[in-house]
Amino acid sequence: MNILVVGGGGREHAIIVALSKSPKIGKIYAAPGNGGISKYAECFDVKATDIDGIVALAKQIQPDYVFVAPDDPLVMGMVDRLNEEGFKTFGPKANAAILEGSKAFSKELMKKYDIPTAAYETFTDADSAIEYVKSQDSYPTVIKCDGLALGKGVIIAEDFDTAKDAINSMMIDGKFGKSGSTVVIEEFLTGPEVSVLAFTDGKTVKPMVSSMDHKRAYDGDKGLNTGGMGTVAPNPHYTAELQKECYDRIFLPTIKAMQAEGRPFSGCLYFGLMLTPKGPKVIEYNCRFGDPETQVVLPLLKTDLCDIIEAIYSEQLDKLDIEFSDGACACVVMASGGYPEKYESGKEISGLDEKGQLPDAVVYHAGTKLTDGKFCTAGGRVLGVTATGDDLPRALEQAYKAVEQISFDKAHYRKDIGKRALEALKN
Ligand code: AMP
Ligand code: GLY
Repeated sequence: MNILVVGGGGREHAIIVALSKSPKIGKIYAAPGNGGISKYAECFDVKATDIDGIVALAKQIQPDYVFVAPDDPLVMGMVDRLNEEGFKTFGPKANAAILEGSKAFSKELMKKYDIPTAAYETFTDADSAIEYVKSQDSYPTVIKCDGLALGKGVIIAEDFDTAKDAINSMMIDGKFGKSGSTVVIEEFLTGPEVSVLAFTDGKTVKPMVSSMDHKRAYDGDKGLNTGGMGTVAPNPHYTAELQKECYDRIFLPTIKAMQAEGRPFSGCLYFGLMLTPKGPKVIEYNCRFGDPETQVVLPLLKTDLCDIIEAIYSEQLDKLDIEFSDGACACVVMASGGYPEKYESGKEISGLDEKGQLPDAVVYHAGTKLTDGKFCTAGGRVLGVTATGDDLPRALEQAYKAVEQISFDKAHYRKDIGKRALEALKN
């Protein structure tokens, strides 16, 4: 099976490493790919959001499947276009990717089909939104812009002024462009967060092993929100009992709801859940593999990813058993100093070879470039240093051992990835 993977981050590197393990795999292509990916795949300099460019590339290389990994091209309808051109794909069509592309849509769907989520209202003008916040007079309150916003479109406002500023910056100043012209204001929920990625062909849904993200930049969950500074799998808060409850009340109802709406969802659906005192609730849907959740989930996947892609495309997922190993996996993100704000690129990375000698460790490249045979930094998040182990303490120990062997100027990483998970395991 020859596959073109669209995207170029740590998630795509993890997908490509998983594909490379399949006995069925032929050639792997990536667009745009990155330094690390170039060791496994032929990379083409086409942007992941360039639909015409990707279609032209697919026509040139004629892959058996095109795997569209990032949110923007999915929401923009890249899968629809590729299918129209006769290519088989992995990923939802635009009318299903809207689950991530519009929070107003996903909230309405959950309300209509009784899927547990935070109470909310949707607004299309700033004055009414501000009036609503004032009338509720309950803080913190959560302001979300409707569309995609690089993970920055959610503001937890502790008081009225912060909420008002957030609404004005989204709806009046246009901080997120069209994405912010509609906002959702929702109830603040509390509890541990769990990420669950699930394979689905639109009819059957098969959840993967659960994971836990670490979104803040610094230790102790301090600093700004980032794309994710590390992950662990499985998530110890997610008990067998909760798994069943989430399947019955959230996962299957979501798939059935999308089917009933004439928007069957095919690909990987990401459930961002909060385990509240009143039970699990949906915080968000993503229409794709999470980053850096994928980096800890796919190393535990035992089933051939090529088989899964085929089963989903042919809508036969019910006939395939999907298995994960019983072990654990941890990913520590090494970022450029200053990220998620201003940072420098082009720093040479050393120690990548030594890590190769550590068993059970793999380094996924998020933002690197291969220049004259040397890896240099080329983004905010640079590497996802990942290790598997029989249990979480062992996986974390191996991941941090690998981190210690790698260095670049002003490298920054969190020292407490998995700490909360280990505490939860003790309780
Ligand atoms: P999202 O981009 O929707 O995942 O939101 C980013 C983060 O904001 C989530 O991971 C949560 O930590 C937090 N968040 C979002 N919605 C809520 C909510 N209703 N209550 C509490 N925290 C929330
Ligand atoms: N790690 C969260 C996301 O992929 O959106």
